[in-house]
Amino acid sequence: NAEKKIHKTDFLIIGSGIAGLTFALKTATHFKDAKITIVTKNEKNECNTKYAQGGISTVWDKTVDSFDQHIKDTLIAGDGICDEEVVEMVVKEAPKRLQELIDWGTKFDKDKNGTYSLGREGGHSQDRILHHKDITGAEIERALIEQVEKFENINFLTYHYAIDLITEHQVKKKQTKRQEKITCYGAYVLDEKKSIVKTFSSKVTMLASGGIGQVYITTTNPVIATGDGIAMAYRAKAEISDVEFIQFHPTALYNPGEYPAFLISEAVRGEGAILRDFNGKRFMHKYDEREELASRDIVARAIDSELKKSGAPYVYLDCTHINFEEFQKHFPNITEKCMSLGIDVRKDFIPVSPAQHYICGGVNVNKKGKTSIKNLYASGEVTRSGLHGANRLASNSLLEGLVFSHNAFENLKKRFSKIKFPKQIPVWNDSGVVKNMEKILITHDRNEVKTIMSNYVGIVRSNERLLRAERKLKVLYEDNKRLYDHSELSVDLCELRNLITTAYLITQFSKTRKENKGGFYSADLVNEL
Ligand code: FAD
Ligand code: SIN
Repeated sequence: NAEKKIHKTDFLIIGSGIAGLTFALKTATHFKDAKITIVTKNEKNECNTKYAQGGISTVWDKTVDSFDQHIKDTLIAGDGICDEEVVEMVVKEAPKRLQELIDWGTKFDKDKNGTYSLGREGGHSQDRILHHKDITGAEIERALIEQVEKFENINFLTYHYAIDLITEHQVKKKQTKRQEKITCYGAYVLDEKKSIVKTFSSKVTMLASGGIGQVYITTTNPVIATGDGIAMAYRAKAEISDVEFIQFHPTALYNPGEYPAFLISEAVRGEGAILRDFNGKRFMHKYDEREELASRDIVARAIDSELKKSGAPYVYLDCTHINFEEFQKHFPNITEKCMSLGIDVRKDFIPVSPAQHYICGGVNVNKKGKTSIKNLYASGEVTRSGLHGANRLASNSLLEGLVFSHNAFENLKKRFSKIKFPKQIPVWNDSGVVKNMEKILITHDRNEVKTIMSNYVGIVRSNERLLRAERKLKVLYEDNKRLYDHSELSVDLCELRNLITTAYLITQFSKTRKENKGGFYSADLVNEL
């Protein structure tokens, strides 16, 4: 199923969330004669961005807020591991990038005086979150896709799944080492509808492939979040770090059988909602003086600890004291979802429990969005930029994608004219493959990865749990390698390969971390919470 033709494109963008689309818009506007190709594995808007609820943080009103406070909040949440220069750069860029998003047609809510209404979330010392009701991400995707569709030099290919990056390894047919200077020449992409593998040769490749949530059983991330970018970059020998810092959102709706888990935005706690244990008692004061608005790692661990003590599968979020009209106006989607399950937020508590939500580490990038591989840029959740440290501050993620895609574009304005297409790259080699084996094996293994990670590499880890995860993942890796080497490619099979690699990396990085920080917590490193 390999196509012999080589598809040449100046820019190859993998992913159509906020990071990929922002980069596409900027390059298409500036490099008018360039050909830009976006490949995305599902519908145009299916991505983590689409599900973002709370909004984007920025210092919008300098009379009540300041860059210094946003910087401080980000650093505190990051638990000492952020890159301070990066934090300062992102916070100071934020208002300009937000204005651009508004100019592209994104509508953020305003109050009755016509000024932007600013929300609050955990870890923020000020109200500074621009939002569109509780469906901010869907509104951003709508606006960005509408803009992207105006450009004739953008070729937007849906159901095109990037399998692997092309580097010296394929071009010169030699083993590459991680510390060697490697160049990216494009990617192999599976056209899912036609079932053929296309070879894309590009001058610049932008990896904007998002998160990893599907590595866990309970996650707020949609099914596309399978760690493809981190795994692809790792195979291409890019530098990766901080992937042990997994963020669990404290308040996903407890609704067994619903995947992905529906999020009850942290902005609801920002509006005054209270956490209560199974018996209706408040508990956050025992864990942090900021109570419900402590940073996410702290609230998630506090809930986890309460659940372990009570044996109950959920705690409660109490919104009954919040003015219902205001609540419904800000959170129509959440209100409707709860009502549809018979939870009347005016009088019923909402059952919630933590769910995997975000990965703080990933492919290393510098301030310009450059990875350790030449001509490979990366932006958004797939990266480790230094902004989030060990725990991302709420609503700093959409912002990261905006800022780093902009910075990558600015860097390319200076160097794009000097980049040449590679002389020749090999098309995909599909010799030795046979028609697929039983698909159910892939499903079994996918479920097994999720079970291993949820049981052993979750909110609270331990040496024994990590060793177990490592042993079991090694077996899965060997089984999958055999399948992968001999079977006709499918998205399911490639995703499984990437899920195993990502899970393995999270486990390995967890084993080497010797101090509890943010989204990494081992019971063997301290005696008590
Ligand atoms: P995504 O938006 O996930 O886009 C990734 C893209 O890559 C997708 O188009 C996907 O199809 C594509 N892709 C992946 N692999 C491949 C492949 N192999 N081949 C081709 N295409 C591929 N952050 C905030 O700042 N504020 C919030 O309020 C907020 N709320 C959230 C609520 C929820 C429920 C979730 C899940 C996340 C939330 N986040 C929030 C986090 C934030 O949404 C994400 O971190 C951010 O949107 C990531 O953007 P991205 O462009 O990097 O990736
Ligand atoms: C939320 O709305 O609670 C999610 C915000 C985020 O992930 O930054």
